[in-house]
Amino acid sequence: MAIRDRADFPVDFAWGTATAAYQNEGSPRADGRSPSIWDVFSRRPGAIADGATGDIADDHYRRFAEDVALMADMGVNAYRFSLAWPRIQPNGRGGVNPAGIDFYRRLVDALLAHNITPWATLYHWDLPQSLEDRGGWLDRDTASRFADYTALAAEGLGDVVSHWITLNEPWCSAFLGYASGHHAPGRQEGAASSHAAHHLLLGHGLAVAELRDLIPAADVGITLNLYSVRAASESPADLDASRRIDGLSNRLFLDPVLRGEYPADVVEDLGEAAWFAEHAREEDLALISAPLDFLGINYYSRHTVSASTRTAAATMDAAGMRVTTQGVSAYPGSEHVTFVGTDAPRTQMGWEIHPDGMVDVLEMAHAIAPDLPLFITENGSAYEDVIGEDGRIDDRERTEYLQDHIDAAAIAVTRGLPLRGYFTWTLTDNFEWAWGYTRRFGLVHVDFSTQRRTPKRSGAWFSEFLGGRLHESDSAM
Ligand code: FCB
Repeated sequence: MAIRDRADFPVDFAWGTATAAYQNEGSPRADGRSPSIWDVFSRRPGAIADGATGDIADDHYRRFAEDVALMADMGVNAYRFSLAWPRIQPNGRGGVNPAGIDFYRRLVDALLAHNITPWATLYHWDLPQSLEDRGGWLDRDTASRFADYTALAAEGLGDVVSHWITLNEPWCSAFLGYASGHHAPGRQEGAASSHAAHHLLLGHGLAVAELRDLIPAADVGITLNLYSVRAASESPADLDASRRIDGLSNRLFLDPVLRGEYPADVVEDLGEAAWFAEHAREEDLALISAPLDFLGINYYSRHTVSASTRTAAATMDAAGMRVTTQGVSAYPGSEHVTFVGTDAPRTQMGWEIHPDGMVDVLEMAHAIAPDLPLFITENGSAYEDVIGEDGRIDDRERTEYLQDHIDAAAIAVTRGLPLRGYFTWTLTDNFEWAWGYTRRFGLVHVDFSTQRRTPKRSGAWFSEFLGGRLHESDSAM
């Protein structure tokens, strides 16, 4: 497939990199920040592959100016980052922590000075631990706490940040956090994890209302992780498996946000129809489906699923820890579904590489909401990097992954889909959740012992594509 030119995209297309606070900031106790569920979970023996924490990560809290300079050299015009709730409102209650707001104002000032548009995500998984101690996302009150925090963030940053994303990937928060236990807070609550999904979405709805009230001119959206899902065969059983997984990964979130209703078959699969009938009130759904300015989609991979029963180990091999961990499915109510291995190439995460699937998920959202602008708010790949003798990181596979997905974005634009931007995951290698530092997604390499940043071939290629000036192994200290 031919590599497209930046000129094939609209001039105002957003080109950016994306990241999250716990994954790159470090400085967990600085300036009044309180512990989040990830500070606690990462200390649990066995929770993180290499036993690491985000205590230092990329030290971005102190080195953000250097990272912004790298972005400016790369040539991006947008940067998606997340605000750490425990910095802005320590312990998830009470008034604002001005030092937390100050940090993000300094970051935003640096971005704006380089003509890089800040895109702030309010929640990328770092719930204040004290709110988890009161029940976390299984408690409806957490949605109201999130709305309060949103108001503090909007009051503190609304004059300089115009693009707001409420939640990042509520599927992961609900099901990896409360079903498989693979992510913080590490609970295994079975189908009750779907209550967390509703409370997260309610939090989203309440947050949208706060943002509309406090920053009427802002562009507001949510980011969902969507998958292209297909059945391994045309057998009725495999087709049903695909319906279930499409339901739990895509429709359980798209339908309430874009249509104002939960998919009946999915809440039925979960065995939670009675709970949803009682607790997912009409007024909740009215909030959850309030009009948005855009939908953010994180796209990484495709799922091929079958109804056949195989061992949990085979399931894990095929699709990586995101799907199953320790034999506990992240898809409650669909424990018998198998994620089938195909011959398609995979990244180091075990995720199948399928660029056309990005067009599929854009079409899926567009079919429901034809007027809604769409953004790919994350897309990227992990590979084992080898540092050459000349110090260069020739990450051919990551570069190809990036090129092929930018091609897919060009196809989407050519087909008339309202795709308005693409954010690659991620600028610098960082703390990859349960994988710790064993998975590198960065276009810029980080030596975690020295914090030295070295652009990889992929970063140099992206920069060339964008018309920037970042070169391979240009390094900054
Ligand atoms: C996404 C997360 C992001 C990062 C990438 C690899 O699901 O939003 O934080 O972990 O996967």
